[in-house]
Amino acid sequence: MRKVIKWVVIAILVIFLGMQVYQPERTNPPVDETKTLFAVVTTPPEIRTVFERSCFDCHSHNTRWPFYSYIAPASWLVAADVHEGRKHLNLSMWGDYNTNKRVAKLDQICQEISDEKMPLKQYLLLHSSAALSKAEVDLICDWADEQREKLMASDTTESPAQK
Ligand code: HEC
Repeated sequence: MRKVIKWVVIAILVIFLGMQVYQPERTNPPVDETKTLFAVVTTPPEIRTVFERSCFDCHSHNTRWPFYSYIAPASWLVAADVHEGRKHLNLSMWGDYNTNKRVAKLDQICQEISDEKMPLKQYLLLHSSAALSKAEVDLICDWADEQREKLMASDTTESPAQK
């Protein structure tokens, strides 16, 4: 029995070490300061702080990679979230979005935080300070609504933005 346990432990160790070979990409591409959300949209400092604190790790090029993002299998999960997060909403590349996309993303931002879908649950487990208060949700939703209306009012060239 002892022998079996010993081999099981050795096997687990070997598998764990083997997993470390597959290192995901942990990139922070350079930020073009003229294209960030803050450069393009009027963002009061108290809203900016919330984005930086609670969203930037997955939705910008300013990701802070924690120590466990270097250890498989956590590294794979963290990298996948950042990769997916940037694909859906990249606050460092806001300037590349067209008007329709900006309108849609502003709407989604309010939706996701109101439904408590963002920040992701697994992220909040390890970053409890990233949670948004009710007041912060209201603040961002009011701001997002206002910015959306401004965009829709100014946009006469493209087809009406869809919700
Ligand atoms: C731990 C990483 C992580 C954090 C932190 C995070 N998100 Fe996300 N976010 C994701 C991932 C992954 C997706 C894409 C998959 C999904 O929708 O669950 C996403 C999707 C989104 C989307 C797009 C939904 C769509 O329909 O395309 C919005 C909007 C969003 N997040 C807003 C936010 C906001 C606002 C914050 C901060 C308050 C935030 N997220 C924090 C990982 C994160």
